[in-house]
Amino acid sequence: MLGSVGVAGTEESVATVVVGVGGGIAAYKACDLVRRLRDAGLRVRVAMTPAARRFVAPLTFQALAGEAPLDDLFDPGQDRQYGHLDLARGADLLVVAPATADLLGRLAAGLADDPVTAVAVAARCKVLLCPAMNVAMWHNERVQANLRTLLAAPRFTTIGPEEGLLADGDVGLGRLAAVPDIVAAALDLLSRGPALGAPAAPEARRPGRDLSGQRLLVTAGPTREPLDPVRFLSNPSTGRMGFALAAAAAARGAAVELVSGPVELPDPPGVRVTRVTTADEMRAAALAALPGTTLVVAAAAVADYRPRAALPKKKKKGDAGEVDRIELVRTPDVLLALSEAAGDGTARPVFVGFAAETEALVENAREKLRKKRLDLVVGNLVGGPDSGFAARENEATLVGATDAEPLPRMDKRALADRILDRAAALLRARGGAR
Ligand code: CTP
Repeated sequence: MLGSVGVAGTEESVATVVVGVGGGIAAYKACDLVRRLRDAGLRVRVAMTPAARRFVAPLTFQALAGEAPLDDLFDPGQDRQYGHLDLARGADLLVVAPATADLLGRLAAGLADDPVTAVAVAARCKVLLCPAMNVAMWHNERVQANLRTLLAAPRFTTIGPEEGLLADGDVGLGRLAAVPDIVAAALDLLSRGPALGAPAAPEARRPGRDLSGQRLLVTAGPTREPLDPVRFLSNPSTGRMGFALAAAAAARGAAVELVSGPVELPDPPGVRVTRVTTADEMRAAALAALPGTTLVVAAAAVADYRPRAALPKKKKKGDAGEVDRIELVRTPDVLLALSEAAGDGTARPVFVGFAAETEALVENAREKLRKKRLDLVVGNLVGGPDSGFAARENEATLVGATDAEPLPRMDKRALADRILDRAAALLRARGGAR
């Protein structure tokens, strides 16, 4: 149970989410999505394409949502009240899951010949697209172009797909985003207020394409510092935070360079990725990408030490009980190197860093902000069971030079958008962003 939510500004009213179900095998996961959205206190109404009906019976959604889905535009019983218009008008959010290749194409073309596209065309609310399809279909240039067309409209956002084993046995990008992540993204969108009309506050504005024209450099993942050809010093960073930032910034129109240490994540669509191994390599790649950058976000968990010398051959182990010593030296601070290289001129980018602290979060984060000349530090309290490294969700405080904004627990993609909201405001303050 995630707790009930109202639409921002109308706390007492229950928000309505329309789940538009497309005809793909992931349609069965839309059942769980409907149930979890209701658990979160939302009213859920369902629209299905005719193809979706081949995968899941409308009765299943009726039982889960508590009301019959709109599954036939031309059934006089269902559409007597202009059901698609009724659904569209009453929706605070439309979640399209699964958004199949076909459905993305028809949505991009503005067609309205089935319940899901008809609701989408008539609705003025935000739309969260949850693509799911075979990996080759996902990488198809028309599919990507259709997605870009849709995301050009500020009220459209997307989550997923994820990498993994697909229903047809292929491995790759194409799995529907995890249902709890979709629910978290839906709640986050709802908490930001309506898509159209006057927003309650600047922070409540939809991100849209507010980073178009900006050039973003993101560092991500851990680094590995070799001891010998088969051993290294590293840390458990998965790179998820940095990859979420890169994906979110690309979706908001930025040109994004991502310099990442070794992680298992695929390249985010539309992002230029340089894969590196050591801190030295990360420093060199990041410095090479710096010219022209307007925003630097350092999310990498760079290993702070490396063995003084990497042995050319594998070190054989000694006797049990033997004590060996490894001499360690400091690695370069990539973010500090970027900050120093950027100089003082008007072209100096906005700098965002991360700080993992076990205590005195704001004070320690602000100290980093000062030392590395940053504009914003994303502070994480670590040491708890489920925080920081390798967690899907994160609880962070955004620490500026004079303010500190504690954020609720949210998934890393939602956090990425919050960080970018602040970065966009800093860029605007310098006259750099729309
Ligand atoms: N950073 C970096 N290169 C390093 C170390 C850190 O780019 N060699 C960046 C990280 O990406 C992050 C920020 O600097 O944005 C973290 O600063 P750091 O001083 O390392 O903070 P902590 O990791 O919290 O470590 P500590 O408090 O032990 O100094």
